[in-house]
Amino acid sequence: MGASEPISQLRTLSPERVFAGMVELLRGRMGADVVWMQYEGRDGRVRLLQSPDVFDSPPLEWPRSACRAALRLESAVFEKHIDVAKVVPTRTPLFLSLLVCNPLALNVGRIVLSVGWHQERVLTPQDRELIDMCTRLGGAVMENAAYYGELSSLYAGMIRGFVSALEMRDFETVAHSRRVVTYTLLLAERMGVAEGFFHEFSLGAALHDVGKIAISDSILRKPGKLTKTEYALVQQHPVIGCDMLRGTLAPYPIALEMVRHHHERYDGAGYPDRLAGSDIPFAARLLALADAFDVMTNDRPYSRARSVEEARREVAAHRGTQFCPQCVDAFMSIEPSALEAVRRGELDRSLIFDDPDLQPGGLLKRQDSLPAVDITE
Ligand SMILES: [Fe+2]
Ligand SMILES: [Fe+2]
Repeated sequence: MGASEPISQLRTLSPERVFAGMVELLRGRMGADVVWMQYEGRDGRVRLLQSPDVFDSPPLEWPRSACRAALRLESAVFEKHIDVAKVVPTRTPLFLSLLVCNPLALNVGRIVLSVGWHQERVLTPQDRELIDMCTRLGGAVMENAAYYGELSSLYAGMIRGFVSALEMRDFETVAHSRRVVTYTLLLAERMGVAEGFFHEFSLGAALHDVGKIAISDSILRKPGKLTKTEYALVQQHPVIGCDMLRGTLAPYPIALEMVRHHHERYDGAGYPDRLAGSDIPFAARLLALADAFDVMTNDRPYSRARSVEEARREVAAHRGTQFCPQCVDAFMSIEPSALEAVRRGELDRSLIFDDPDLQPGGLLKRQDSLPAVDITE
């Protein structure tokens, strides 16, 4: 088994699906009667996959089990004529003529594959090879699942970290980021964006203003009007944000574009790159509207909140100048009551801040392409 391609192919397969295929193979090729696979993570927690369901809890948790011995010895353990229930509790009696427990150390944790036969069985070298191959396959899948699980929590933590750092600067609030994520998703839904993109759209929306962290307090908190130079500095926040996130969000190019271009205007009068029309990435046009709408409908140091109705009229008035016409049309089709609910914090779809099992796999799940509405007028 090669080093990297099999893992990338397996990325989209769940451990359960791979295990089911493995059981088929071991049954078909070797007449195996019972197969179970256990993965022990770095934290000592054990995950058990089994066919048929024999155990209520992982046998690895029992010190005298053959699989525990295999992990301890770091080599395959063969046991003959055993009454499994005498060592590990089973749901139904389980007598095996032969049991093989094959362990493998992984970068993230350890795995042990156990294969049992009711009838006498002499293993051929090919049988041993097949068991080894299945163990490596199982190991690759479990390691991959564990790795992505850890990565997911890192992402969730990172997002929360960035957003609360921004909040500490007393400029944007987490509530603003949450609402912008929700408006962005409502709008994306209206525009027919496939759900596979929602995670990445949420990332871009949640982190759109992180660049403000790098702008000095004297400018961010200045009560009066900004000078030209100060305003030019503030206008750098999308570029700074994108640079800050470039490494971490490398697998999310759309989110990065959203951060960089959320202040572009459809007529080309925005910043930082003065892009116009369809040169502005689709997701950024969508976010620009969501962000502006939230700014309009909430009190700011420099402006009072407008009602949802007033802000909707404002959005419509800037169709084709500040905002992308298709985005405006889709936005106007969202029920005002839903917008009002978001404004009050009663409708919140920004799970991205809470979900510890956040899938970084918007990318992995993505088979769809962006919707046709993407392109020009
Ligand atoms: Fe911004
Ligand atoms: Fe914002």
